Amino acid sequence: MSIITKYNRISYVYDLMESAVEFLKFGKWRRMVLSDMDGRVLDMGVGTGKNLKYYPGDCNVVGVDISPKMLEHAKKKSQGMDNVSLLVMDGEHLAFRDDSFDNVLTTFVLCSLPEPIDALKEMGRVCKPGGSVINLEHMRSSNALVAFIEDVLNPISTFIMGVNINRRTVENIKKAGLEVLDERNLGLGDVFRLVRSRSEKQP
Ligand SMILES: C[S@@+](CC[C@H](N)C(=O)[O-])C[C@H]1O[C@@H](n2cnc3c(N)ncnc32)[C@H](O)[C@@H]1O
Repeated sequence: MSIITKYNRISYVYDLMESAVEFLKFGKWRRMVLSDMDGRVLDMGVGTGKNLKYYPGDCNVVGVDISPKMLEHAKKKSQGMDNVSLLVMDGEHLAFRDDSFDNVLTTFVLCSLPEPIDALKEMGRVCKPGGSVINLEHMRSSNALVAFIEDVLNPISTFIMGVNINRRTVENIKKAGLEVLDERNLGLGDVFRLVRSRSEKQP
Protein backbone atom coordinates (compact mmCIF):
# COMPACT_ATOMS: atom_id res chain seq x y z
CA MET A 1 0.00 0.00 0.00
CA SER A 2 1.39 3.42 -0.89
CA ILE A 3 2.19 6.02 1.75
CA ILE A 4 -0.54 8.23 0.31
CA THR A 5 -3.17 5.50 0.73
CA LYS A 6 -1.98 4.75 4.26
CA TYR A 7 -2.16 8.35 5.42
CA ASN A 8 -5.41 9.01 3.58
CA ARG A 9 -6.90 6.08 5.50
CA ILE A 10 -5.62 7.01 8.93
CA SER A 11 -6.30 10.74 8.49
CA TYR A 12 -9.71 10.42 10.19
CA VAL A 13 -8.28 8.90 13.37
CA TYR A 14 -4.77 10.37 13.33
CA ASP A 15 -5.36 13.13 15.89
CA LEU A 16 -7.29 10.78 18.15
CA MET A 17 -4.58 8.09 17.94
CA GLU A 18 -1.92 10.54 19.05
CA SER A 19 -4.00 12.49 21.56
CA ALA A 20 -2.37 11.08 24.72
CA VAL A 21 1.21 11.57 23.57
CA GLU A 22 0.27 14.95 22.11
CA PHE A 23 -1.06 16.03 25.50
CA LEU A 24 1.87 14.61 27.46
CA LYS A 25 4.82 15.49 25.24
CA PHE A 26 4.40 16.46 21.58
CA GLY A 27 2.36 19.59 22.25
CA LYS A 28 5.09 20.96 24.56
CA TRP A 29 7.81 20.19 22.04
CA ARG A 30 5.87 21.79 19.22
CA ARG A 31 5.34 24.95 21.26
CA MET A 32 9.04 25.10 22.19
CA VAL A 33 10.18 24.74 18.56
CA LEU A 34 7.52 26.74 16.73
CA SER A 35 6.73 29.70 18.95
CA ASP A 36 10.10 31.31 18.07
CA MET A 37 9.79 30.69 14.33
CA ASP A 38 9.96 33.65 12.00
CA GLY A 39 9.96 34.61 8.33
CA ARG A 40 8.69 32.32 5.60
CA VAL A 41 8.51 28.73 6.85
CA LEU A 42 8.00 25.48 5.00
CA ASP A 43 6.31 22.81 7.14
CA MET A 44 7.01 19.69 5.11
CA GLY A 45 4.61 16.81 5.84
CA VAL A 46 2.27 19.14 7.71
CA GLY A 47 -0.22 16.30 8.15
CA THR A 48 -3.45 17.22 9.93
CA GLY A 49 -1.93 20.59 10.81
CA LYS A 50 -1.12 20.03 14.48
CA ASN A 51 1.75 22.51 14.27
CA LEU A 52 -0.30 25.36 12.87
CA LYS A 53 -1.63 26.83 16.10
CA TYR A 54 1.87 27.17 17.54
CA TYR A 55 3.33 29.45 14.84
CA PRO A 56 3.45 33.17 15.62
CA GLY A 57 0.83 35.10 13.65
CA ASP A 58 3.46 37.08 11.73
CA CYS A 59 5.13 33.93 10.47
CA ASN A 60 4.26 33.07 6.87
CA VAL A 61 3.71 29.31 6.83
CA VAL A 62 3.50 27.06 3.79
CA GLY A 63 2.45 23.50 4.70
CA VAL A 64 2.80 20.67 2.21
CA ASP A 65 1.78 17.04 2.42
CA ILE A 66 1.55 14.14 0.01
CA SER A 67 -1.79 12.97 1.48
CA PRO A 68 -4.78 15.04 0.36
CA LYS A 69 -6.90 13.65 3.18
CA MET A 70 -4.40 14.60 5.91
CA LEU A 71 -4.31 18.06 4.35
CA GLU A 72 -8.12 18.35 4.47
CA HIS A 73 -7.89 18.17 8.26
CA ALA A 74 -5.09 20.75 8.24
CA LYS A 75 -7.28 23.03 6.10
CA LYS A 76 -10.03 22.90 8.72
CA LYS A 77 -7.54 23.83 11.45
CA SER A 78 -6.14 26.69 9.34
CA GLN A 79 -9.48 28.43 8.89
CA GLY A 80 -9.03 32.05 9.90
CA MET A 81 -5.23 31.82 9.72
CA ASP A 82 -4.32 34.26 6.93
CA ASN A 83 -0.63 33.49 7.33
CA VAL A 84 -1.02 29.80 6.37
CA SER A 85 -1.24 28.19 2.94
CA LEU A 86 -1.49 24.45 2.34
CA LEU A 87 -0.59 22.45 -0.76
CA VAL A 88 -0.56 18.82 -1.81
CA MET A 89 3.08 18.15 -2.69
CA ASP A 90 5.72 15.44 -2.51
CA GLY A 91 8.49 16.47 -0.13
CA GLU A 92 10.99 14.54 -2.22
CA HIS A 93 10.22 16.79 -5.23
CA LEU A 94 9.38 20.22 -3.90
CA ALA A 95 7.90 22.61 -6.46
CA PHE A 96 9.63 25.67 -4.98
CA ARG A 97 12.58 27.62 -6.24
CA ASP A 98 15.96 27.43 -4.54
CA ASP A 99 16.29 29.63 -1.43
CA SER A 100 12.53 30.22 -1.04
CA PHE A 101 12.24 29.84 2.75
CA ASP A 102 13.86 31.25 5.88
CA ASN A 103 13.18 28.06 7.80
CA VAL A 104 12.27 24.56 6.68
CA LEU A 105 10.85 22.12 9.18
CA THR A 106 9.60 18.59 9.72
CA THR A 107 7.87 17.15 12.77
CA PHE A 108 7.64 13.36 12.82
CA VAL A 109 7.89 13.04 9.02
CA LEU A 110 11.32 11.65 8.13
CA CYS A 111 10.25 8.27 9.53
CA SER A 112 7.57 7.82 6.87
CA LEU A 113 9.20 9.14 3.69
CA PRO A 114 10.44 6.43 1.33
CA GLU A 115 13.62 8.40 0.55
CA PRO A 116 14.41 10.67 3.51
CA ILE A 117 17.79 11.76 2.15
CA ASP A 118 16.18 13.01 -1.08
CA ALA A 119 13.63 14.97 0.95
CA LEU A 120 16.38 16.45 3.15
CA LYS A 121 18.32 17.50 0.04
CA GLU A 122 15.18 19.23 -1.21
CA MET A 123 14.74 20.92 2.16
CA GLY A 124 18.31 22.23 1.96
CA ARG A 125 17.76 23.40 -1.61
CA VAL A 126 14.67 25.50 -0.83
CA CYS A 127 16.12 26.91 2.41
CA LYS A 128 17.88 30.26 2.06
CA PRO A 129 21.59 30.41 2.83
CA GLY A 130 21.83 31.16 6.54
CA GLY A 131 18.34 29.73 7.14
CA SER A 132 17.60 26.74 9.35
CA VAL A 133 16.47 23.22 8.62
CA ILE A 134 14.76 21.94 11.76
CA ASN A 135 13.77 18.33 12.35
CA LEU A 136 11.77 17.21 15.37
CA GLU A 137 11.84 13.47 14.87
CA HIS A 138 12.09 10.07 16.46
CA MET A 139 15.03 7.98 15.33
CA ARG A 140 17.32 5.03 16.03
CA SER A 141 18.71 5.25 19.54
CA SER A 142 22.44 5.14 20.26
CA ASN A 143 21.58 2.73 23.10
CA ALA A 144 22.12 -0.80 21.76
CA LEU A 145 19.18 -2.35 23.63
CA VAL A 146 16.72 0.37 22.60
CA ALA A 147 17.98 0.19 19.00
CA PHE A 148 17.50 -3.59 19.04
CA ILE A 149 13.89 -3.17 20.21
CA GLU A 150 13.35 -0.55 17.50
CA ASP A 151 14.75 -2.95 14.89
CA VAL A 152 12.46 -5.76 16.07
CA LEU A 153 9.35 -3.56 16.10
CA ASN A 154 10.11 -1.73 12.86
CA PRO A 155 8.42 -4.21 10.47
CA ILE A 156 5.21 -3.91 12.50
CA SER A 157 5.20 -0.10 12.61
CA THR A 158 6.03 0.03 8.92
CA PHE A 159 3.23 -2.36 8.04
CA ILE A 160 0.56 -0.66 10.15
CA MET A 161 1.48 3.02 9.83
CA GLY A 162 4.17 3.24 7.17
CA VAL A 163 6.45 4.53 9.92
CA ASN A 164 10.09 3.48 10.32
CA ILE A 165 11.14 3.75 13.95
CA ASN A 166 14.81 2.90 13.47
CA ARG A 167 16.08 5.45 10.95
CA ARG A 168 19.51 6.97 11.37
CA THR A 169 18.14 10.44 10.89
CA VAL A 170 21.15 12.49 11.97
CA GLU A 171 23.36 10.50 9.59
CA ASN A 172 20.76 11.06 6.85
CA ILE A 173 20.77 14.81 7.51
CA LYS A 174 24.55 14.84 7.06
CA LYS A 175 24.36 12.63 3.96
CA ALA A 176 21.96 15.18 2.45
CA GLY A 177 24.72 17.79 2.64
CA LEU A 178 23.39 19.66 5.66
CA GLU A 179 25.62 20.82 8.47
CA VAL A 180 24.24 19.85 11.88
CA LEU A 181 24.45 22.85 14.20
CA ASP A 182 22.81 21.41 17.26
CA GLU A 183 21.08 18.31 18.47
CA ARG A 184 18.93 18.05 21.57
CA ASN A 185 17.51 14.91 23.16
CA LEU A 186 13.86 15.34 24.07
CA GLY A 187 12.48 11.97 25.09
CA LEU A 188 13.16 8.23 25.53
CA GLY A 189 16.88 8.94 25.85
CA ASP A 190 17.91 10.06 22.38
CA VAL A 191 14.99 8.53 20.45
CA PHE A 192 13.08 11.81 20.18
CA ARG A 193 15.45 14.55 19.10
CA LEU A 194 15.41 18.09 17.87
CA VAL A 195 18.07 18.66 15.21
CA ARG A 196 18.89 22.04 13.72
CA SER A 197 21.07 22.21 10.66
CA ARG A 198 21.80 24.46 7.74
CA SER A 199 22.65 24.02 4.15
CA GLU A 200 26.29 24.43 3.30
CA LYS A 201 25.38 27.14 0.77
CA GLN A 202 27.09 30.43 1.65
CA PRO A 203 24.91 33.39 2.73
C1 LIG B 1 3.49 11.00 11.12
S1 LIG B 1 2.73 12.20 10.08
C2 LIG B 1 3.27 13.74 10.84
C3 LIG B 1 2.37 14.88 10.51
C4 LIG B 1 2.72 16.21 11.17
N1 LIG B 1 3.99 16.72 10.72
C5 LIG B 1 2.68 16.14 12.66
O1 LIG B 1 3.65 16.57 13.31
O2 LIG B 1 1.67 15.69 13.22
C6 LIG B 1 3.73 12.12 8.61
C7 LIG B 1 3.18 12.96 7.49
O3 LIG B 1 4.13 12.96 6.42
C8 LIG B 1 3.42 12.92 5.21
N2 LIG B 1 4.30 12.44 4.14
C9 LIG B 1 4.78 11.19 3.95
N3 LIG B 1 5.53 11.14 2.85
C10 LIG B 1 5.52 12.38 2.32
C11 LIG B 1 6.12 12.98 1.18
N4 LIG B 1 6.88 12.26 0.32
N5 LIG B 1 5.91 14.28 0.94
C12 LIG B 1 5.14 15.02 1.78
N6 LIG B 1 4.54 14.52 2.88
C13 LIG B 1 4.73 13.23 3.15
C14 LIG B 1 2.26 11.99 5.50
O4 LIG B 1 1.21 12.11 4.56
C15 LIG B 1 1.86 12.44 6.91
O5 LIG B 1 0.91 13.46 6.88
